Amino acid sequence: MKSYQIILVPLFLVLAFQLKAQKEAIYDATSIHHPLLSKNGMVSTQHMEATKVGLEILEQGGNAVDAAVAVGFSLAVVLPRAGNLGGGGFMLYHDNARNKTTAYNYREMAPAKAHRDMYLDADGNVDVQLARMHHQASGVPGTVAGLLKALEDHGNMTVEQVVAPAIRLAEEGFPITFDLARLLKLYESRLRASSETEKIFYPSKTTYYEAGDTLRQLDLAWSLKQISKRGRDGFYKGELAKRIAKDMSANDGLIKRRDLAKYKVEVMEPVTGTYRGHEIISMPPPSSGGIHLIQMLNILEEFPIEEMGHNTGATIHTMAEAMKYAYADRSEHLGDPNFYDVPVEWITSKTYGKELSEKISTESATASEDISPGKPNDNESDETTHFSVIDKNRNVVSQTYTLNFSFGNGIVAKGTGILLNNEMNDFSAKPGVPNAFGLLGGEANSIQPGKRPLSSMTPTIVLKDGEPYFVTGTPGGSRIITTILQVVMNIIDHKMNVAEATHASRIHHQWYPEDLFIEGKGISMDTQKILGSMGHSVKIRSVMGSTQTIMILDELLRGCSDPRRPDARIAGY
Ligand code: GLY
Repeated sequence: MKSYQIILVPLFLVLAFQLKAQKEAIYDATSIHHPLLSKNGMVSTQHMEATKVGLEILEQGGNAVDAAVAVGFSLAVVLPRAGNLGGGGFMLYHDNARNKTTAYNYREMAPAKAHRDMYLDADGNVDVQLARMHHQASGVPGTVAGLLKALEDHGNMTVEQVVAPAIRLAEEGFPITFDLARLLKLYESRLRASSETEKIFYPSKTTYYEAGDTLRQLDLAWSLKQISKRGRDGFYKGELAKRIAKDMSANDGLIKRRDLAKYKVEVMEPVTGTYRGHEIISMPPPSSGGIHLIQMLNILEEFPIEEMGHNTGATIHTMAEAMKYAYADRSEHLGDPNFYDVPVEWITSKTYGKELSEKISTESATASEDISPGKPNDNESDETTHFSVIDKNRNVVSQTYTLNFSFGNGIVAKGTGILLNNEMNDFSAKPGVPNAFGLLGGEANSIQPGKRPLSSMTPTIVLKDGEPYFVTGTPGGSRIITTILQVVMNIIDHKMNVAEATHASRIHHQWYPEDLFIEGKGISMDTQKILGSMGHSVKIRSVMGSTQTIMILDELLRGCSDPRRPDARIAGY
């Protein structure tokens, strides 16, 4: 061998090896689903216009919080079913340089006039209409206070800058998508019941908007301008607060100007746990999401899930059993920690997880009544919305917010363009009687003035070796927690890329009803038979969730916006 060959051959081999490794790092040859790749920043939301807004903010030099707050305001315009100013939610912010995660609790609060039995009729039964579709179903909204508090603490941009895109979308309008046109027909009776709502979402009493028509919302633009000019006070004090309170008092609602002025965001420590060496960071109570996600992961860590295989009978059975224990505990022990001593440490402990894992038979399903008593009920729900953002400094936002039902209670407060939430229905109106998601609640979640209703929203961030690894979250009512469980397990146990982890078929069990729900056609007949023979009542249901997941791996961002909802988009730069 000549001397130059002695140098060049090994050099060539090293280069070829590096190129191959690089190709493998960005390309998963074992998967038919591929994430979006980008380097600097990424935004994933349930609406393409909001994703565009978030990306523009990142490209203009905004950080993850600037982008998330701009997305939050924009979704209130373009995704009226769940994006909101009149609702509430949770934000997790992970500051990468400080390695610190902060939880923002801007869940709605019960107004001062609310009380424990406010939804019970003369016979002591829950008046469902009052609890869900009346002005009295609304809690004091927290979204504006929550978004602006996070911006004040961690953003680089001004309120005017982050609200401007939403004002533009409301004032100039945006094209109605096929999905929004469909929803406006589907929820017609709820939305036309309020003439103020009908005026916004329908061209006339008998006609509909079609896909491609432009939806302009001038009252909403006015409300957004109040916030842009006066910040938090633009919503909670002054003319806008006056209009909300006036609409409430004209319609037997409970929210007064005093309730709005007193609304408080809570800045909290997140709930944390570990799963096979990864750090799980999620939302603490009043969300039940983080606690029960960690509880289920602790139970499942006791089983060799990877060897048992993805969506096999054995794995689904074990997951369903873990889910039953978690939802049974949820009904008893969860509520607003300012009013009830939630046993967070006990429920999220490895010891309790192990104890519950030992109760799970590998052979057969445990009857729900042997776990704890309850009454069956079920209601589908696809409400709520989640968005995830990672910026160029690897700061992470995981944010879920909601009006509760799609379009909340369907009522727009006169002259504001703002849809009101029906989050009061997430309290237990009568302990032991299921809410709209079929979830049972106890005294821990009974109604009290100033209290926040229990939630299932589970914005989550996972760290690996102390660094942000992935961020995820989803809507889906009671299915939120189990959907996030599956995204986490698909990535950590089953070594799926984010796209594959997102596309994979989902299952759900919530203790009561005593059914194991599976998505559409995603679980094979063979597996369904195995599950049936183990004693599970398998029911096929429509798809679950709309996850927005972004992973950081080998310096690249890899994201996937759930294909289960047609308007969802991810974008990066
Ligand atoms: N309203 C749905 C939830 O908070 O979980």
